[in-house]
Amino acid sequence: MLQEKITQYTAEINAFTTTNADELEQFRIKFLGTKGIIKDIFDEFKAVSPEEKRTLGKVLNEFKQLAEAKYQSLKEEGGQDQGGKDAGMDLTLPGEGFEVGARHPLALVRREIVEIFNKLGFSVAEGPEIEDDWHNFSALNFPEEHPARDMQDTFFIKKGGEKGDIALRTHTSSVQVRMMEHGQPPFRALMPGRVYRNEAISARAHCFFHQIEGLYVDEKVSFADLKQTLFYFVQELYGEGTKVRFRPSYFPFTEPSAEMDISCTICKGDGCQLCKHSGWVEILGCGMVDPNVLENCGIDSKKYSGFAFGMGIERIANLKFEIKDLRLFSENDVRFLKQFKSALI
Ligand code: PHE
Repeated sequence: MLQEKITQYTAEINAFTTTNADELEQFRIKFLGTKGIIKDIFDEFKAVSPEEKRTLGKVLNEFKQLAEAKYQSLKEEGGQDQGGKDAGMDLTLPGEGFEVGARHPLALVRREIVEIFNKLGFSVAEGPEIEDDWHNFSALNFPEEHPARDMQDTFFIKKGGEKGDIALRTHTSSVQVRMMEHGQPPFRALMPGRVYRNEAISARAHCFFHQIEGLYVDEKVSFADLKQTLFYFVQELYGEGTKVRFRPSYFPFTEPSAEMDISCTICKGDGCQLCKHSGWVEILGCGMVDPNVLENCGIDSKKYSGFAFGMGIERIANLKFEIKDLRLFSENDVRFLKQFKSALI
């Protein structure tokens, strides 16, 4: 009887295998538990005849060892001491890697520009992308018939509302107006943000892009301050020895106005495709804040003067990373974005 049982259970133990901790625990309870089969068999053993004991004793011990060895080896294969829901997991296997993202090139360049001007005491100001006519145009001294107000350049949302036309801002100069309206000089701030213009999308133009404008208003601010500030900025951004030049220009909100060129970052002034063999590339517009603009914002133009500048972040990034097609910035092609990983610090 007993011998038969042992033979049957031996076959069962030999055939048993699992990687599942719960099943292994069931096995342990069934054979090795305090109310398990081995306990039962040993109890039965007590009642057998002395002759049988002699032969069966050895068989019984071997059977017990078999069950214990099976349990131990399956437990080790499972890699866990206590079982539980994670049993069976091999902690020595290499982990599944995950890809670290990269900062967008425009974010990298924006941050770099902000950091340079931070050193000069400029803070960062932001404002709404949906603007009224006053903040985007009128306060900035745009004549009524100025072509920039035309449907061709501006995305209007609502014509002739309470505060005039409502539109997507065409530049972040609107944030300068908001800043000046809400305080008194000194002002020293940068205005980064997205701006919109109704242009056909191509490699060189887009219906939205990003700007960083700057404003500095205080007593006795001069054009010399403007030049020195921007000169410092260019040396920091493109390296010492980068040349700058100012060309007279026109903006309704600055007088005098200028456009600033730098010596080509690619050919260093020798002439290449990017600078159209002139050796110079334009990077920003600037000028002394028109007294009308100061007055429009409630600032005494007899006491205060200031300068302002504005640049497209895409343009600065193009010169830094030699990106030839503007559309790449907004297509979110990971093959493009991945290239800026090394710039992530
Ligand atoms: N707002 C101008 C533009 O969008 C840039 C600019 C800002 C020029 C400040 C001069 C002074 O083109």
